[in-house]
Amino acid sequence: MPQSKIAGIGYYVPKNVFTNNDLKKYMDTSDEWIQERTGIQERRYAHRTEETTTTMGVEAATIAIERAGITPQDIDFIIFATICPDYYFPGCGVLLQRAMKMKEIGALDVRNQCSGFVYALSIADQFIKTGMYKNILIVGSEKHSFGLDFSTRGRNISVIFGDGAGAVVLQPTTKEGQGILSTHLHSDGESAEILSMFNPGTHANHWLPNKVADFDDADMGEMFMSHDMIDNAQNFPNMDGPAVFKKAIVKFPEVIMESLTANGLQTTDINLLIPHQANLRIAQYVQQKLKLSDEQVHNNIQKFGNTTAASIPIALCEAWEMGKVKEGDLICLAAFGSGFTWASALLRW
Ligand code: ACO
Repeated sequence: MPQSKIAGIGYYVPKNVFTNNDLKKYMDTSDEWIQERTGIQERRYAHRTEETTTTMGVEAATIAIERAGITPQDIDFIIFATICPDYYFPGCGVLLQRAMKMKEIGALDVRNQCSGFVYALSIADQFIKTGMYKNILIVGSEKHSFGLDFSTRGRNISVIFGDGAGAVVLQPTTKEGQGILSTHLHSDGESAEILSMFNPGTHANHWLPNKVADFDDADMGEMFMSHDMIDNAQNFPNMDGPAVFKKAIVKFPEVIMESLTANGLQTTDINLLIPHQANLRIAQYVQQKLKLSDEQVHNNIQKFGNTTAASIPIALCEAWEMGKVKEGDLICLAAFGSGFTWASALLRW
């Protein structure tokens, strides 16, 4: 049975740099607060009308495909991970298929938030191992800047996120020991609402102890997105930051250790850990807990903020371009986010 390897990788971030001081024009915050709590100095925001989640995905995919030495017509399956889709439906996968003039191949959208890329990688890995596909394009892309609350009310969330995209091409390899060694996927829906965006949706308060929007009195046709939701800022993400932090610092080390144990390896064997760029404090805690050196961990949240499904492929690509990822290296990818969902992948480059 073949293993799957990353044959090409690319990333794209918009040109527009938005610093912490730029955010001060919209909300009561400070560079000191943001840097101290998150490590973020600046992030990129997509061009309002000329760039979308899909167009950024296309930019990253174009680089990944070229580096894999193939053309868009060689791709035989697309997996697109995002929480900022261009449309509520259809997903970004088909928009990318159209934009890149690909064949009438399958296109799957993954909605797994911060762990979306690792979930997508795991799905692609299964298709490669069974021999079903030979060139799978995986994209993680987010245009967060379009959907955040830029008033002081939303400051605990809005300062964290940035826009960008990363992509990889997965191919089979028969080289002994090379490629994805294992993937590990988890979820716990008990705290689904702790980091979430309720509206627009069909929940009608079913799961919520504290009601949002008035679905009982809304007219037919006015439930999915109403003026009340907008007036009461219920169309933005919610986050209990401290609760996310507490869970993340347990699950990150757990799922990293799970991948190492499954392969009979130890933390000292890791050449590079790419943690989902949630928050620099979380990544530093994980590094300390696992006793990893600075050389063993790559972070770039300082420059790009948290780009959710795009953060791991962006960071992995950047590390590769910097020469920090070499043939034969053991690379660990680990993510935790809304759901909660968390995941890891261990691969030999
Ligand atoms: N600027 C200034 N003050 C702020 C800001 C801001 N941007 N945001 C919140 N505050 C204030 C709050 O209003 C509060 O003020 P108060 O004490 O007067 O009420 C105070 O700062 C502390 O608020 P907390 O929410 O308790 O702040 P905390 O110290 O927990 O830091 C943070 C918030 C950075 C979000 C932290 O909880 C965290 O990192 N959590 C992890 C969440 C995370 O990483 N999410 C990323 C997305 S999910 C993922 O990728 C896993």
